[in-house]
Amino acid sequence: MTIRTLRWLARRLLPVAALVTLAACTIQSKQSALDPEGPIARQSHNLFRPVFWIAAAIFVLVETLIVIVMVRFRDRGQADEPKQIHGNSRLELAWTIAPALLLAVIAVPTVLTIFDQAATAKPDQLHVRVVGHQWWWEYQYSDFAPQVVTANELVIPTGKEVFLELESADVIHSFWVPKLAGKQDVVPGRINTMMLVADEPGEFYGQCAEFCSVAHADMRLRVFAKSPADFDTWLKDQQQPGAEPTSSDAIEGRKLFLSNACVGCHTIGGTPAAGKQGPDLTHFGSRKTFAAAIEDVTPDAVFRWIRNPLKIKPGVIMPAFGKAFGGALTDAQIRQIVAYLLALK
Ligand code: CUA
Repeated sequence: MTIRTLRWLARRLLPVAALVTLAACTIQSKQSALDPEGPIARQSHNLFRPVFWIAAAIFVLVETLIVIVMVRFRDRGQADEPKQIHGNSRLELAWTIAPALLLAVIAVPTVLTIFDQAATAKPDQLHVRVVGHQWWWEYQYSDFAPQVVTANELVIPTGKEVFLELESADVIHSFWVPKLAGKQDVVPGRINTMMLVADEPGEFYGQCAEFCSVAHADMRLRVFAKSPADFDTWLKDQQQPGAEPTSSDAIEGRKLFLSNACVGCHTIGGTPAAGKQGPDLTHFGSRKTFAAAIEDVTPDAVFRWIRNPLKIKPGVIMPAFGKAFGGALTDAQIRQIVAYLLALK
């Protein structure tokens, strides 16, 4: 490659690289570990900051020295080799001891933080069992009877430590809500644990952070932090069986739901639907998002989803139900099912 081609490439690629980097800033802002909103994420951030600046200073120092050496001792046709420093024991001792000391200093807060964040189950926490599925999240609130089971949206009370037990139904996933805590792998055959805490009520974005095949990028999640009083209200609502439909469309929709393949995969409390393959839909209408938080719960989005979910989330296990896509249901029937699902508050 000639210098000219290199220059040509640099001129074209640099703006693209800059653009991509800047775009990442805006897209990721809802999922930034640099903007912690709870004590656990803040503790990690407080460790990250000094380590980053120390590393940045060393990077600048080393790069500057390299550039100086490259320019100063470049080949200008001079006869003599520059003076060599090989075997200079004072120098070599210095650049061995200095990094070792630095690493030892960094190790102190690092190890303390690791021990501090080791998740331990305590009675005053909220305990939730998280199950990673291809490609959605299941949450079992095991502290309560009747137990509450939800999907994709984790609802927690503010100011309370939430202890998560993570397990996988299939492959390795990773549970990550950057503003609330670090990542934790979700590994088949074992139970990992982690803790998270939210300071204030709010909506926090999360994402599966371990490649888990086709729909990995669409395996997102939300955490909704509510005040303790609002959380109790939410919990009581979730403990109820699925709401009885009242409109004629919703009543028809329930009949269709219960007489089609839906029941093989989904549970709706208070009905014979008890499938375990897909998300529990008992309170589907109370959720803001669905399909692992890639779609908002709106009549149109749920209609499109039932008609042909593969178009929205390639790889999804749920088959298309629209007649146009080889399924069993007409558009009018799907609309009735949507009316039923949205009434499940
Ligand atoms: Cu689950 Cu990536």
